This record gives sequence, structure tokens and C-alpha cells, in this order.
Amino acid sequence: MGDFDTYTGSLRVPMPANPDIVDIIRYATLAANGHNAQPWQFRVGESTIDILPDLSRTTPVVDPDNHHLCVSLGCAAENLLIAASASGRPGQLETDAGGERVRYSFSRAEARPHPLLTAIPRRQSTRAEYDGRSVPAADIESLRQSAETPGVRLVLLTDRARINQVRDLVVAGNDAQMADAAFMAELKRWLRFNPRSAMVSGDGLFSAASGNPVLPEFLGDLAFDTFFTASAENDKYARQIDSSAGIAIFLAEREDKAHWIAVGRACQRFALAATASGLKHAFINQPVEIARLRPELAALIGERGMRPDIVMRFGYGPTLPFSPRRPVNTVLV
Ligand SMILES: Cc1cc2nc3c(=O)[nH]c(=O)nc-3n(C[C@H](O)[C@H](O)[C@H](O)COP(=O)(O)O)c2cc1C
Repeated sequence: MGDFDTYTGSLRVPMPANPDIVDIIRYATLAANGHNAQPWQFRVGESTIDILPDLSRTTPVVDPDNHHLCVSLGCAAENLLIAASASGRPGQLETDAGGERVRYSFSRAEARPHPLLTAIPRRQSTRAEYDGRSVPAADIESLRQSAETPGVRLVLLTDRARINQVRDLVVAGNDAQMADAAFMAELKRWLRFNPRSAMVSGDGLFSAASGNPVLPEFLGDLAFDTFFTASAENDKYARQIDSSAGIAIFLAEREDKAHWIAVGRACQRFALAATASGLKHAFINQPVEIARLRPELAALIGERGMRPDIVMRFGYGPTLPFSPRRPVNTVLV
């Protein structure tokens, strides 16, 4: 089934003292991304790094309009910007008009420490129960400020009544997804039940990274079909949300690819700032993935008529095993 010690070291190593472009791209690939499909490619020019969608890595059932794909590109772009600025390549990100490419244009300067750099390899989606503690108001305010991005709204919920309403939408969304054979078949293709499978593919949802047991591949399939039931998953989501300090919901001011990329940048920065202040986070996107639930979520957070893009819970919790990444040479074009 593979060796856990070798596994956990993969790609999560700190930046070397004199990072080169490959180190910067490695940091970009540590970004959050839907189903850990890593739907990105990087093209390096003289003073540019382009981030391009890898359309062979889409997840058409859960993400029919490539919304999550664009958000994932935005998450990678934000990591790239932070890692490049910190390594003496300050620059700007620009998304082309159709949202098909994000370009980082940089110059050379002194390396400058960036407060979020060390959070990049430590950030993880932590799908565990948290400890129920609330987050001080001043820390919530800094999280809000860290995520400020033109074209993106952030709604932060810390009151239990509204958190409970979002929880009910997550459960309703999970019910709908688990009753959908196409959703389940797509999800299963991205599951990795042990360190060897996770290392061989370098992608997908590694069971231990979701707090689930490590199993040989044939048993993993069987266990998934037997024990992965809607009621067990719903109970788990309810406990996880009840144990969280709050919920962050990101909404793009326009429904287009460039704005979805901006949402990715905002939510990655939020996740890094949370990591830097000792908080954990996890995505609970069911109410945005099931389209009919979006209006209810938008109304609940006072944003009627808008499409909510990302739902994330946060709080104080344990560290779980990290999810895998593919080697940098496989994402260069
Ligand atoms: C657009 C987007 C949608 C996501 N949706 C979910 C989700 O609904 N449920 C979940 O558990 N994780 C979700 N994730 C988290 C990814 O599964 C996670 O980022 C990926 O597996 C890599 O793991 P890491 O974040 O720990 O590095 C999402 C991430 C992104 C960027």
C-alpha cells in the first residue's frame, strides 16, 4: 500500500534559499483545487509565467461550466504571486479577456519575505472535526482583510443560527449528489485509498487526507460501495460544521471566468491567512454545486440574485495527512 513516511514528504518541502522558477511553480501547485484534479499547466517565458487550464483534467459532472476549474486556477495564481514576489520576482497577475489564461509578468528585484509564504506548504483542506472554539473578532477582521479582492464579495458567518442553516443546505446538497450515479462515478475516479496509489497518480482525493482509513485498492472500492452512505456522510458533515468556528462564502460580482479566477485568488489568500494564524479550513461546496440550492444560500446570506461561488468552514483543528501533487515537470508546457 506504500510507505507513509516517503509519502508525506512529497512536494511539501520548504522553499530553498535561492528558489528558481521550478520552485515557484511547485508552490503554485500546492494550491487548493477541485477533486485535487490539478487542472493546470504552466508556460514559462523570459519574464512571464502563464497558467493555463488543462482541459484533460476537468470534472464535468460536479463542474459542468468549469467554474471550479477557474477557481482552482485562481488559487494557483495567488500562490504563484506570493512565491514569486518572495523570491525576488515581483510582478502582477492579469487574466485575459476570456478568462482562458492567467499571466504573471515579473521583473527582478531583491528577495522580500512575504508573510504568507510559509503558510503555502502548511495549508491543507482539513476535513476533520474542529474543537468548537470561536475565533477572536480581531482575527476574523484580519481574515476578511486578507481576502479583499476587487470584484469579489466575502460573507463571514459566525452566528450559530445561520451556520445551522448553511449546514442544512450542505446536507441537502450531499443527499442530491449521493443519489446521482454520475456524480458518484466521477468522484470514485478521483479517490485514492492508500499512499502508493496517491503517490503513483500524484493527484486525487487521498482517503487519509479526509480522515478515512488507508486500504488496499480492491478493499477501498468495496468499502466505498458499502460504507459511504448518504446518512453517514450527512452526520459527519453536520458534526464537522457544528464543530467549526465559522463559514466563509465567496461571491463573484459577475458570473464569468475572470471573476471566478478572482474568487480563487481571494479564497486561497483567506486559506493561507487562516493557516498562518493557526486555523484550519475545509470546503463544503455542496450548496453551490447543486444549482437549485444556490438561490436559497444567496438569500440566507443577504445576497439575493447573486451566485455564491465557494463555501468554506474554518476553526481550530488537527493536522491530517497532506494530499498529493504531481511533479512539476508534468505540469510544464
Ligand atoms: C473550487 C474548489 C472546490 C472544492 N470543493 C470541495 C468540496 O466540495 N468538498 C471538499 O471536501 N473539498 C473541496 N475542495 C478542496 C479540494 O478537494 C482540495 O483543495 C484538494 O483535494 C487538494 O487538497 P489540499 O487543499 O489539502 O491541498 C475544493 C477546492 C476548490 C479549489
